Amino acid sequence: MTFDNLLYDLQDNILTITINRPDKLNALNAGTFNDLEKAFALAKKETGLKGIVVTGAGEKAFVAGADISEFEGLSTEHAMQLSARGHGVFNKIQNMTVPVIAAINGFALGGGCELALACHFRIGSENAKLGLPEVSLGLIPGYGGTQRLVQVVGKGKAMEMILTGDMIDAKKAFDFGLINHVVPLEELLPLANKIIGKIGTRGPVAVKKAIECINAFYSDHMNGFEYEIESFGELFDTEDVKEGAKAFMEKRKPEFKGK
Ligand code: COA
Repeated sequence: MTFDNLLYDLQDNILTITINRPDKLNALNAGTFNDLEKAFALAKKETGLKGIVVTGAGEKAFVAGADISEFEGLSTEHAMQLSARGHGVFNKIQNMTVPVIAAINGFALGGGCELALACHFRIGSENAKLGLPEVSLGLIPGYGGTQRLVQVVGKGKAMEMILTGDMIDAKKAFDFGLINHVVPLEELLPLANKIIGKIGTRGPVAVKKAIECINAFYSDHMNGFEYEIESFGELFDTEDVKEGAKAFMEKRKPEFKGK
């Protein structure tokens, strides 16, 4: 499958999705949302997939926001549809059962910051700049930013970032816990691959369950504590847990099958 607005590159069971509209600083237009939805649906069908890296084309931007040119003349009804569409696609990213890392290689603003927030965690290059500047446009974040930023950095910092609309640099984003690592730009994708490579040596079913349990903390429909108990029990039915314990006793590396 080919995409107009992103690159889908699968290598060694690690998928890199690169938003590819560099002349528009990778702004998310309707076509990019369609592509993102299709790409993540396709990723779900890949066998042996270890994880997904989301990044932006070029050296300047991860994603500089929703495509503002598509905002003109939107009615309330259409704006709600646009917002709901963004929520739908980003929820799918959040609910992936392999790790999804945002590799932030420059501006991650508005919808770009919200895309990064929908990923399971974020790493950034030294030139990364993050922010939710929507109030400068007379708007609020509409793709989950008012909720997910609070979850990641807490209410006070989220309030200040969203109400001022100011961008923060990579160092401050690291201090806020918004990005887990800051590295020179050329080391960004290698680091993302290294982290996914490491997670890929762990029990795949356990990784899936861990993601689901952590996401359950933020869900209104699930009790994360109960889901953890249930999942912990279910894992004892897997071949992987037997292999994990056996390998430990035999002082060797486990060979997980994801079963
Ligand atoms: N939507 C649509 N187009 C965008 C965009 C967006 N969110 N962000 C950047 N672009 C386009 C610019 O219009 C410009 O296109 P052009 O060359 O056809 O005129 C191109 O990308 C390059 O951007 P430019 O503004 O010239 O780069 P810059 O280095 O001067 O500034 C930013 C970079 C990120 C500070 C600036 O582009 C910006 O503020 N973007 C909007 C950020 C935003 O408010 N996002 C939230 C949207 S809800």
